[in-house]
Amino acid sequence: MPRKICFLNYKGGVGKTSMIVNIASCLSQMGHKVLLVDLDTQSNASIWLMRLDRWNKLNINGEGSVYSIFEPAEQTLSDILVKDVVTSKTGENLLPGFDILPTTFNLVDIENEYKNDPAEPPYLRFFRQLREIENNYDYILFDCPPNILRASQCGVFSSNEIYIPANPDALSLIGFTLLVEKLLLFHQRSASFREPGMGKPAVCRGIIFNSIKANVDIEVPKMRMQLRLNQFRNQKRVAPSAKIFETQIRDAMVVRRAVTLGLPVCLVGQVAKEEDSVATDYRKVATELERHQDIV
Ligand SMILES: Nc1ncnc2c1ncn2[C@@H]1O[C@H](COP(=O)(O)OP(=O)(O)O)[C@@H](O)[C@H]1O
Ligand SMILES: [Mg+2]
Repeated sequence: MPRKICFLNYKGGVGKTSMIVNIASCLSQMGHKVLLVDLDTQSNASIWLMRLDRWNKLNINGEGSVYSIFEPAEQTLSDILVKDVVTSKTGENLLPGFDILPTTFNLVDIENEYKNDPAEPPYLRFFRQLREIENNYDYILFDCPPNILRASQCGVFSSNEIYIPANPDALSLIGFTLLVEKLLLFHQRSASFREPGMGKPAVCRGIIFNSIKANVDIEVPKMRMQLRLNQFRNQKRVAPSAKIFETQIRDAMVVRRAVTLGLPVCLVGQVAKEEDSVATDYRKVATELERHQDIV
C-alpha cells in the first residue's frame, strides 16, 4: 500500500505547490514510484509539470482532468493519468515513474455546479477510483487548495497523512489552527463512508517551514508553532509523532524560475548540483519524510 499524503494549509501562497512538486521529484529521484494528484483548480502543479501547451489542450477540451470523473463522468482516474510527466523540451523522459493526475480550471465546478449524491459524495467516488490505481505507487501526494471544500476533501478522505507547509508568520499559525478544527469536522461527517483497509483518517504529522530568508531568525514563530502543535498533540488532534521538520526550505529565486522552465528544482542545471542550495533542502525534506514513516 502506498503512503498517501496531503499537503494542506488554510493559508494560500505558503508554498504548498512548490513543495509538493519538488518533494515528489526528489522522491522519484530516490527510486520511488510517485503519483502527484492536482486537486487545486488553479492547476499550478499541472501547468508547471505538463507545461502550458500540453496542459492547455486538456483545459480547452474539458477532458482528461480530475473533474472528468464527475462531469460528464465518462472517464475514470485511470483514463486521465499522465504517465512520466516530467520531460525535457524535446520530450525526453526525465523522471520515469513520476505520474500526475492533472486538473484544469473546470474543477471549480465541483464546489457548486456539481450535484451532490448523498449516497456517493465526491470524495467517495474519487477514493473508489483511486483505489484501482494506487498500488502502482509508493507515494501518492495530493496538492490541495487552501480550504477543505469538496476538491480538498477528495485528497483528505483518500490520504492517511497531512503535512503543512508554513511560513514563519502569524497567518500561517492561524491557518494551521483553522485547518485542524475543520479537519475534525470533516472526519466526523465522512466517518460512515470509511471502508475496511483504508487506514486511519488523515491528521497532521508534520509542519515544514518554507521561504526562509537568509539571516532572518525564525526562532520565535517556530516556538509559537511548536507550542500550538504540543497543545494539539495533547488533545489528540494531530498524530502523536507530529513534528516541525528539522529541514526548512530557504527562499530562492530558482523556485520561481523552475516554474517557467517546466522543471522541478532538482533538474535545474547548476543549482541541482550545488551542495548548499534550495535543491538540497528539498532533498533533505524528502528524506525526512521518507524516514517519518513507521513512527506512529
Ligand atoms: N522557497 C521558495 N523560495 C522562493 N519562492 C518561493 C518558494 N516557495 C514558493 N515560492 C513562490 O511563492 C509563490 C507561492 O508558492 P506556491 O507554491 O504557489 O504556494 P501555494 O501552493 O501554497 O499557494 C510562488 O510564486 C512560488 O514560486
Ligand atoms: Mg498551490
